Amino acid sequence: MLDKIVVHGGRRLQGTVHASGSKNAVLPILAATLLTEEPCEIRNVPDLSDVHLMLDILDGLGMRTSFASGTVRTEVADESISTAPYDLVHQMRASICVLGPLLAKRKRAQVAHPGGCVIGTRPIDLHVKGLKALAAELQTVHGYLEGTTVGLTGAHIFLGGPFGSTVTGTANVLMAATLARGTTVIEQAACEPEVVDLADFLTAMGAQIEGAGTPRITVHGVERLGGATHEVIPDRIEAETFMIASAITCGDVRIESCRPDQMVAVAEVLRECGASVEALSAQSVRVRGSRYIKPVDVTTFAYPGYPTDAQAQIMALMSVADGISVITDKVYPDRYMHVSEYNRMGAQIRKNGPTAVVQGVEFLSGAPVKATDLRASAGLILAGLAAQGETEMHQVQHLDRGYDRIEQKLIQLGAAIERVRYAPRRRKSDRRAA
Ligand code: EPZ
Repeated sequence: MLDKIVVHGGRRLQGTVHASGSKNAVLPILAATLLTEEPCEIRNVPDLSDVHLMLDILDGLGMRTSFASGTVRTEVADESISTAPYDLVHQMRASICVLGPLLAKRKRAQVAHPGGCVIGTRPIDLHVKGLKALAAELQTVHGYLEGTTVGLTGAHIFLGGPFGSTVTGTANVLMAATLARGTTVIEQAACEPEVVDLADFLTAMGAQIEGAGTPRITVHGVERLGGATHEVIPDRIEAETFMIASAITCGDVRIESCRPDQMVAVAEVLRECGASVEALSAQSVRVRGSRYIKPVDVTTFAYPGYPTDAQAQIMALMSVADGISVITDKVYPDRYMHVSEYNRMGAQIRKNGPTAVVQGVEFLSGAPVKATDLRASAGLILAGLAAQGETEMHQVQHLDRGYDRIEQKLIQLGAAIERVRYAPRRRKSDRRAA
């Protein structure tokens, strides 16, 4: 049996929705629990398949983990295992975040190359560069990154790459540096709030970190780290997805348990489109859409620039704007698998290298579409909310990686959306294959 999401378009979203904890904060934070033998408690953890996958990886690394009512508890049972296997790692790139902690705490690691995905080749050369600078020996053997060290030593590391800073690369080097001998300085570090949240958790464990959230992070290595309790920050990308959902349906939505101060770039673009965006408090924002959606050119950058993880979503809105918009992804120049799916719904979008030219149309028409990656699947739902008729989205496993019960949250706001289980049609080709 398979799941599909069916959306009946044309409803205005209204009401209040709460953002869940941040996927991109909690994944490195879970990896960081490898840095101590003591128990850790992580709260406000979203119920996502990526989180369960990371817990499977930690279990396979000798950790005892539990996950109930939004709280994860971890404890080390056996530090003799240091291999993160291909069958788990290749499903989720963030698995690479166990590399730094394993080298720092267990002085050895075998982590399968995470490989690329539909949004790009997603190399890990900067991770390797940073960890080698900390005196880890790293080599690729049969598709695994094999690392050893006699003990990590602090270093001055420039971690910028051809597409700017690296979020999980910064996380990996930051985690490793906490137990390195001496001081580490990371230049052109990623400034994302998720890196700051990781640094906060590491500090609670006893790490000495300055400058998290700025391009220069300084870490004074310590002998050991202890257990800690931490509450994960809200998921800004999920909250931004709901902000754009309100705009595309000319709705009136309040997003609670979010951080408006971390969503300024998306708020600015929505205001330029003609929506009203009002920070009601430090944890809530109200977005009211307008009938007339102005076209806006959007270019994605590392934080605090417009996030690449909200690129597919804003493209859905621009596809029904009154004019031409130009969207450029400076972080992942190939992150446009959603273009052909939007065009199946009547959008008029032309990809041209790292840029997509969007000619707004009066309305989209619902159609069967295929999710290609996590944020594209969210964008397709937004397009379905605005489209005339019914949109059926297949390959929903992409959505479940990063959105915690999104259809229930949208139903709460008045959307006509449901998850349908169905038996895929048996085809002659299946029989032939059999
Ligand atoms: C994180 O991925 C996020 N994932 C991604 O979110 C997000 O799109 C990305 O940061 C950019 O913001 C997690 O945090 C788990 P990068 P990450 O290393 O760390 C290049 C989602 O939808 N690069 O910051 O893997 C890379 O190719 C996901 O939630 C190198 O060249 O991204 C890219 O062009 C998708 N060498 C740019 O840097 C490296 O060693 C930014 O990548 C590493 C990266």
